[in-house]
Amino acid sequence: MPLSSPVTDREVIICRDVDELSRKAAERFVGLARQSIAARGRFAVALSGGSTPKALYSLLATAEFSEQLDWRQIHLFFGDERCVAPDHAESNYRMVAESLLTKIAIPDKNVHPMAGELAPEAAAAAYAAELTGFFDLKEDQPPRFDLIFLGLGEDGHTASLFPDSSALHETEALVAPVYVEKLKAHRLTLTLPTINSAGQISFLIAGQSKSAVVKSIFTGQNTEAPAARIKPGHGKLTWFITEDAAGDLGKA
Ligand code: 6PG
Repeated sequence: MPLSSPVTDREVIICRDVDELSRKAAERFVGLARQSIAARGRFAVALSGGSTPKALYSLLATAEFSEQLDWRQIHLFFGDERCVAPDHAESNYRMVAESLLTKIAIPDKNVHPMAGELAPEAAAAAYAAELTGFFDLKEDQPPRFDLIFLGLGEDGHTASLFPDSSALHETEALVAPVYVEKLKAHRLTLTLPTINSAGQISFLIAGQSKSAVVKSIFTGQNTEAPAARIKPGHGKLTWFITEDAAGDLGKA
């Protein structure tokens, strides 16, 4: 069964492994950066947390890629964050800093971390205000990121939008504080209206453990999964996915 689906129009790029996935995603990043900077003078990206994107960030930090990028015009935001200090082992900011930020010449003002160290409500409000200022948003206008990277959890969560989470039903807030019962943890996340307003959304998915949820989403069985609700209104959706995560989907 080909890896296309009636659910939504999406591009699917199957990769041998995380290295190939990271290289293809890095090439896409460079291409989009050039287009956005030529068209709008800047490239606004929301980065994903978790472990899968780490190799991509490390690759972007290599001379091969970083020298192709004008970091003075690139703004790095976060799709979600754990409510911990930026130097905490669980911090998405720390992961990005160690794998990318500390290795490239990007101005500090171009890096926009979520304040995981603050109270969740205050941190979400502060980030929404930062997005409103950066994108010069009008009332009820969502930001239009040029690119948003997302991951996928085995339960179908993406960013920090978890199944049964009240944040899934947010229609106005740009950013939401989330309490994840099963993790006994607070998180911050961009909401669906914010994510689905992006020009490009790219899932980065690797590992056999993801094959069941990938299949349930691609076959349309699991339309309730947060990741299944990622449907850019006026943008492009791409799934960069490793063969083991694609499982038998994509095999002729
Ligand atoms: C986070 C992420 C989360 C992640 C998935 C997949 O902060 O944890 O944003 O949505 O992308 O949990 O994580 P892995 O890439 O580690 O499998």
